[in-house]
Formats: sequence, C-alpha cells, structure tokens
Amino acid sequence: IFRNKKKRLPFVTPSLLMAVGSAVLGSLQFGYNTGVINAPQRIIESFYNETWLWRFSEPISHPALTALWSLTVAIFPVGGMIGSFSVGLFVNRFGRKNSMLGANVLAVLSAALMGLSQLASSFEMLIVGRFVVGVFCGLCTGFVPMYVEEISPTTLRGALGTLHQLGVVIGILLAQILGLEWLLGSLSLWPVLLSFTVLPALLQCVLLPFCPESPRYLLINCSQESEAHEVLVKLRGTENVAEDMQEMREESHRMQQETSVSILELLRTPAYKQPLMVAVMLQLSQQLSGINAVFYYSTGIFEKAGVSQPVYATIGTGVVNTAFTVVSLFVVERVGRRPLHLIGLMGMAVSAVFLTVAMALLLAWMSYVSIAAIFSFVAFFEIGPGPIPWFIVAELFSQGPRPAAVAVAGFSNWSANFLVGICFQYIEQLCGPFVFIIFTVLLLAFFIFTYFKVPETKGRTFEEISAGFKRAGAGGADKYSASEEFNTLRGDDPDL
Ligand code: GLC
Repeated sequence: IFRNKKKRLPFVTPSLLMAVGSAVLGSLQFGYNTGVINAPQRIIESFYNETWLWRFSEPISHPALTALWSLTVAIFPVGGMIGSFSVGLFVNRFGRKNSMLGANVLAVLSAALMGLSQLASSFEMLIVGRFVVGVFCGLCTGFVPMYVEEISPTTLRGALGTLHQLGVVIGILLAQILGLEWLLGSLSLWPVLLSFTVLPALLQCVLLPFCPESPRYLLINCSQESEAHEVLVKLRGTENVAEDMQEMREESHRMQQETSVSILELLRTPAYKQPLMVAVMLQLSQQLSGINAVFYYSTGIFEKAGVSQPVYATIGTGVVNTAFTVVSLFVVERVGRRPLHLIGLMGMAVSAVFLTVAMALLLAWMSYVSIAAIFSFVAFFEIGPGPIPWFIVAELFSQGPRPAAVAVAGFSNWSANFLVGICFQYIEQLCGPFVFIIFTVLLLAFFIFTYFKVPETKGRTFEEISAGFKRAGAGGADKYSASEEFNTLRGDDPDL
C-alpha cells in the first residue's frame, strides 16, 4: 500500500507494522483522554453536586462548580506539560521501548483513580486521575513519534509518523462514540468510560515485549552494533542493511563530540537555534490554529450556530478528522511536509472566515454552512498541521539533541493546548461570533513563517537534515532561510 510508482518504497514488514502498531496505542490514549471529557460533562457535574451535598449538606454553587469543572478539564494539559518535558529523563536511560512500557503504570493508576472516584464519593480522585493521565499522555507524545521515526526507513518516515496522529484521531472518535449517553456516557457508567484507558494500556504491555528496541538507540547510544544489526534485519525484512548501518555509524561517530544534549545546552547552542525555532513554531501552529476549540467545545459551538443535533455533528467532526488523517498518510511521502502544512494552514484560515460569517449571520440555513465550515477546518488540519508537527521534530534533530528537542517542542505544544483550552470560552464571551477571526490571523502568520523558514525533510536522512541546517546557518540566517538553503541544495523549486 505504501508503494510508489516512480521510486520503489520499501515494504512494511510484519515486524515494523507490529512495532508501530503497538507504539501508537499510546497515541490512541492521548486522543481518547482529550475527547472523553466533552460529552459527559453535565452527568459528571451532577456527581460533583451530589458529593458536595452529601459532604456539606447544601448544593454546590454555580461558580464553585464551574471552577471544579475547569480544573478537571485543564489539569490534563498541565499533566501533559510535565510529562512531555520529562521525556529526556527516560529515553536514554531505559531505552525507547522500556520507557513506553513503564509509562503504562501511570495509565493504570489514573484509570483506578477515575474509575473508583464515584464509589469513593471523591471528585478529588477524579481530578488527580486526570492529572496523572495527562502526565502519561505527555510522555506518549514524546516517546511514540521518537520511536516510530527511529525504526522507520527514511522513505516511509512521514507515512509511518502520521500513524501517531491516526492513533490520536481514532482515540478521539472512540471517546466521542463511547461517550454517548446510551453507551457509556450515562449516570451509572461514566466511571467505566473514564477508566476504559486501562485496556489499551494492558494491550500495549502485552505487545511491546515482542517489539524491537530502536536500532539507532542500540547503536548510537549503547554501542551495541550486532544487536542493532539484528533488529534492522528484522525491521527491514532483508539482510541488506549495510546502508542504514553505515549511516548510523557515521552519526554515532559524530556523536562522540555531541553525546547527549541537555535542554539547557539545546537552548544555548547557536547551531540548534534554527531547527528549534522551526520545531517550536510548528507546534504552536498546530495548537494556536484553534483545533482544540473545536475538540473541547464543538457541541457548544454547534448549539450556538443553531444545529439541532449538536452531539451527532460533533461525532461528524471526529469522522472527518479520521478520514483526512488517512488522506495525509497516503500523500505525505509524495507531496512532502512543507506543501501539506501550507495547504492545511491556508485551508483552515479560509474555513474559519466562513465559520465566522455563518455564526454572525445566523440565518436559518447558515447552520449547514457552519457545519461545513467546521468539517473543512478539521479536514485541512489533518492534511498537514495535525500530523506533521508531531513527527517532524524527530526529523529535524540528530540523535544527540533529539530527546531534548522533543521535550521542548512537546512542552510548547501542551502549553499552547492548555492556553486555548482555558481561554477560549472567555474570549468567546468577549468576541462573540468573531472569535475564530483571531485564529485566522494566527493561521496566516504561521503560513508566512512556514513559507519562509520550514525546510522540506521528505526522503532525507537525519544527517542530511541537520547538515542542511548547519549550511543554512553558515550562509547567514539573514541572507538565507533554512528552507531556501535546503531546496537549493536539492535543486528543487523552493516554491509550492
Ligand atoms: C493533534 C493535537 C491534539 C488535537 C488533535 C486533533 O494531535 O496535538 O491536541 O486534539 O490533533 O485531532
């Protein structure tokens, strides 16, 4: 399925598929816990109220309930910020695979806390559970793309990297569907809905031991050459892995000077400035596009736009979201990262304008325009800004600085996620139907940045990519942007 007529792409071997499939169960967890809190809000709020009544013999006040609910929602990305920032503490010490495996302890703990909170009449347990699962998901957003990028052949890195996002969107859709009141989103079953997260955790614990460790980690970080060779042969399905081995050896040789880079060193070293800026800006473009305003608050947005069945329209966004991630998966290796990111950002900006017009006019048939605008907003997101930022960070850095870069990029992503989650409702109160215009302006700014600064990484080895940045740096950042330098090196047209 990943074959290309012009250039034969390598086969996806069962071993590679199994490794990627097991890893992206972590991505599914991230998506699931992002989406799960949306539908059962009113029902869980009534549990908060009952608990309050039972403890203090009076119903909870409206401001107290709003504050408790906001905390329940927002503590998840706070956990995510901490988790993503800590990625570097684990990946070199325990390896990529064992880090993913170990993190599942947090998933099981959070499932227990959230699942037993009703029985224990304790909303505190639910809030702590959301925090713990946030830390877990923050770790997953670092571990999974790093592992997948490191085990993939160069020509399939984008397609397989997109599977992380596919895991996320399937997780969101699953949460939206299971959260329906007649399934698990009911007064008695919501604890099951929240603790469902234990199932993918257990499944991953069963599967991961059969998956290989990252050969780059084995060779470059642990100097285990024969083990790395063995793993590569299995992953590639051929004995002919000399080229991959040679490329890793060269990187390992250069790493003698670079070894592992701490976050402080990463921030201080001029050579990393340009790729780090690209990595962080791409993360910000993903979150400040406003995507989670849709995934956290779509039901409310649809209600305000006059849609009669908002819950089903919300599930529609989940379906569109999944479908277009699949589209991206099939085109990313042909079209490249840069054009897809640019098309995605521009498409989202235009969709946001249509949504604003529809919400401002509120004529009867405008509710259909607003549904179409939100669907196309989400579709364009998944073409580029959804999947690309997650995997491109691992591509922009070589083995030494990679863990620190993934941590800083992940932290910026989760912080922006938190900001949108917390601020959206307040800004909406201030700006009314014009709230999405703010995202339009941001999207256009990120479009300009991407056009001038983001290089194409498709089909290039990790080494070639960092060499491209070094040459761009040597040419003088003012004179040459990295993207021009890369494309000149490739002899391609830097334009779309
Ligand atoms: C990306 C974002 C995440 C968002 C999701 C929507 O993975 O990181 O915050 O909810 O896409 O599909």
